[in-house]
Amino acid sequence: MGSVHLIDHPLIQHKLSIIRDVNTGPKEFRELVEEIATLMAYEVTRDFPLEEVEIQTPIATAKAKVIAGKKIAVVPILRAGLVMADGIMKLIPAAKMGHIGLYRDPSTLQPVEYYCKLPADLHERDMIVVDPMLATGGSAAAAIDFLKKRGTKGVKLVCLIAAPEGIARVQQVHPDVEIFVAAIDERLDENGYIIPGLGDAGDRLFGTK
Ligand code: PRP
Ligand code: URA
Repeated sequence: MGSVHLIDHPLIQHKLSIIRDVNTGPKEFRELVEEIATLMAYEVTRDFPLEEVEIQTPIATAKAKVIAGKKIAVVPILRAGLVMADGIMKLIPAAKMGHIGLYRDPSTLQPVEYYCKLPADLHERDMIVVDPMLATGGSAAAAIDFLKKRGTKGVKLVCLIAAPEGIARVQQVHPDVEIFVAAIDERLDENGYIIPGLGDAGDRLFGTK
C-alpha cells in the first residue's frame, strides 16, 4: 500500500486556513497555493539521492554533496494543478513539466480527459503529479494511469486537501504511489465536494464563477 505523508508544518496549516476561508480572493488564494506547494516540495524531495563532489571554497578544497542528477517531471492536472506546479518548480527548476487536462463531469463525477502533453523522455523520469484537491480520487487515479501506460518510472502525488475516499481510491488502484497531503478532511458531500475543504479549487484560483 502506498504511504500517505501528512505534511502539517505550522506554516502550511496557517496558510491552508487562509485559503479555506470563503472571504479570501483569487489573488491571495493563488499566492498561498503556490507558497504551500513550495513548502511541501521540501518534504516531497526528501529522498532525492545525493552524490559527493569536490569543490574549492575560498579557504580550502572540500567534499560537498549535490543532488545526483535525478530526472524529474512535475505534472499538474489542469486547471487547478498549474499554480501548485509553479510552487514546486521553484525548488526544482531543472525539472521538466508535463500537463494533463482533466475535468470532473459534475453529474457522473467521472474524469474527462481533454489535453495531454508530456516530456518525450518520460520513461526516464520520476513524476510528481500535482492537484490541490483529492476528492473521489477519480482524476488523480486516471492521470496516474495515463502516465504509467506511457512508461513513466515512478509517481508521487501531491495534493493540498484530501478526502479519505480519494486516498483510499488511489491506494487501491495505485498501491505503489506515495501520496503527500497538507490536510485530510472529513468526507465528501453528495456532490463530491470535500467537507469542509475549500470549495472549487479551479474557480477560486482563476476567479471563474
Ligand atoms: C478538481 C480538482 C481535481 C478534481 C478532484 O478539478 O482540481 O482535479 O476536481 O476531484 P476528484 O478527486 O473527485 O476527481 P475540476 O474537475 O473541478 O477541474 P478544474 O481544475 O478545471 O476546475
Ligand atoms: N474539486 C474541487 O475543486 N473541490 C472539491 O472539494 C472537490 C473536487
